Amino acid sequence: MMKSFLNVQDLGDLKQALAEAQEIKSDRYKYVELGKNKTALLVFFNNSLRTRLSTQKAALNLGMNVIVLDVNAGAWKLETERGVIMDGDKSEHLLEAIPVMACYCDMIGIRSFAGLTDREYDYAETVYNQFVKYSGKPVFAMETATVHPLQAFADLITIEENWKNSQLSTLNSQLRPKVVLTWAPHPKSLPQAVPNSFAEWMNAADVDFVITHPEGYELDPKFVGDARVEYDQKKAFEGADFIYAKNWSCPGVTRPADYGKILHDYHMMTNWTVDAEHMSWTNNAKFMHCLPVRRNMIVTDDVIEAPTSLVIPEAANREISATVVLKRILQSL
Ligand code: CP
Repeated sequence: MMKSFLNVQDLGDLKQALAEAQEIKSDRYKYVELGKNKTALLVFFNNSLRTRLSTQKAALNLGMNVIVLDVNAGAWKLETERGVIMDGDKSEHLLEAIPVMACYCDMIGIRSFAGLTDREYDYAETVYNQFVKYSGKPVFAMETATVHPLQAFADLITIEENWKNSQLSTLNSQLRPKVVLTWAPHPKSLPQAVPNSFAEWMNAADVDFVITHPEGYELDPKFVGDARVEYDQKKAFEGADFIYAKNWSCPGVTRPADYGKILHDYHMMTNWTVDAEHMSWTNNAKFMHCLPVRRNMIVTDDVIEAPTSLVIPEAANREISATVVLKRILQSL
């Protein structure tokens, strides 16, 4: 039984998963009978556009019913910590709410961002794991405290498609694309879920993978794996086929006290914003970002609007990655 979808290993053979993605893409209703009389519950603790729509669409592709719960808009405010005296504004505890939610569905998707104050709590995936433990239903991540696997899977599908088209090659041929994950400035403190998963999935794929960021933003070693880390952004970009831009706050690897912080005033970091000059250092690279993106902070208007920008195909592939994952869960019920 596929009880949880959090990491790349949960999908098993990645080549097989990519082949399934192409199968779904050529006929996204092929498995429409599979989800008949099955219900997906999507629980959002945080805002979403793409994940909300693409995951619902995936469930509909599979013939499922869908219930969406926005915990902070219409439900009781939930306490997530055991042992707390609940005399504040939180009326219900997650430990009752989870089994109740589970009564009404066959699988549960969770969006629950990092709090960015307690590294141990976030990196233990405390909220997500409570759903796994207390629901008794398969649970899948729709961006949790530390990972965003549906996004990373869609990103890999997008890279594979574009690499095949541009090189008449595959990720398994001798010619491997150079993929660069680059930090970029942002005015707010953001989680590390997207870069963590992107690194994890790129390490599992057959690509030449490089990570570049200012010193102090080192990602957790379990996600960096064997990737090359290059602090000189220009050197990292040289010869790149794909540039994946994303901001993240300090992961607290070298200085735990800095976890979740912005280490430098973003006004001082605009040389990391991906602009036309940055793209000129590459091998006519494609530009990628998971969206939503702050223009002229992460990336300039001209780069995101260029024909080499893949941000919309990436978002479109969220439907495909979610359909593959929900199909796998249905097949294992
Ligand atoms: N990329 C992504 O997960 O977008 P949303 O936050 O809009 O779901």
